[in-house]
Amino acid sequence: MGRESIKERIEFLRSEIERHDRLYYVEARPVIGDRDYDLLYEELLKLEREHPEFHSDSSPTQRVSGEPLSGFAQVRHNPPMQSLDKTHSKGELADFDAMVRKEVDGFTYNVEPKVDGVSMSLFYEDRRLVRAATRGNGQVGDDVTLNVKTIRAIPLRLPPSAPESLEVRGEVYMTRDGFVKLNEREEESGREPFANPRNAAAGSLKLLDSKEVANRPLDIVIYNAGGTGCEGFSTHSEMIETFRYWGFPVTPWSKTCATMEDVYAAIDELETLRHTFRFEIDGAVVKLNERSLYDVLGATAHGPRWARAYKYAPERAETVVE
Ligand code: IVH
Repeated sequence: MGRESIKERIEFLRSEIERHDRLYYVEARPVIGDRDYDLLYEELLKLEREHPEFHSDSSPTQRVSGEPLSGFAQVRHNPPMQSLDKTHSKGELADFDAMVRKEVDGFTYNVEPKVDGVSMSLFYEDRRLVRAATRGNGQVGDDVTLNVKTIRAIPLRLPPSAPESLEVRGEVYMTRDGFVKLNEREEESGREPFANPRNAAAGSLKLLDSKEVANRPLDIVIYNAGGTGCEGFSTHSEMIETFRYWGFPVTPWSKTCATMEDVYAAIDELETLRHTFRFEIDGAVVKLNERSLYDVLGATAHGPRWARAYKYAPERAETVVE
């Protein structure tokens, strides 16, 4: 094979593996078996080893790479990663709606799951993932790029239709199934099990050896714009659909609501569905759908005035002793 065709073959293998990762990890509808996937992966590994001149940090083989770190660098968030004001009753949500209606009109709401995980910022330059950072104190977080690259649902490259520079924000979580299996392994090894999937996700992201993180069943849901690349979207729902199109995992369930009655119904429906998701949820998030109104509403010290969290009653695991 000549140099050009080797380069082309490497690019073909990378795109194919990306496509299959997306089908398997994001869309849950794989089209090839493990054996065929492994053949593509092994061929790519071999060609990259023989031709280091074609190395790329965004290659699927680079999801697990690098030596253990001694600590995490700090990343400043621009804009800061805010929190959400919480409500615990429909009455409090009605107050929120009244506040919004005093300032703006002609809008709808979006109701979506409040994923119980660890907030994360993903930054893409030249459509390649260059940085992943935790929320930290909102102003400054930890650079956990190497750990986050191991999450196979996260695209390392974006399609040409995506902006060159893009920041998106979401929640890294540990799958329910994966959490149970991880805790079994922890107990078998004589270690203390994790209290819940959120602690397990947070603990995994803090590991200094990304090879260990690669064995943790982590995933992500992207639900918000970062500071760069999302200026053009007029509605939240359009933005989320576009994120999906660019290859990001987004919420499997959301409702656009014209009235507060619809919002309450959506919140109740979501609560009945909470056990059907791969992630734990601790509530719903109600967001204005029209992004052009966000600047009008602004933010408080705690969070944006265009969104509210609605917390469900905490779940208690019940054991029936027979
Ligand atoms: S939007 C300005 N959407 O909940 C903050 N946050 O308790 C906008 N969270 O810090 C965030 N699911 O980490 C948003 N669907 C969702 C969410 C969500 C979970 C987290 C987020 C936030 C925390 C606030």
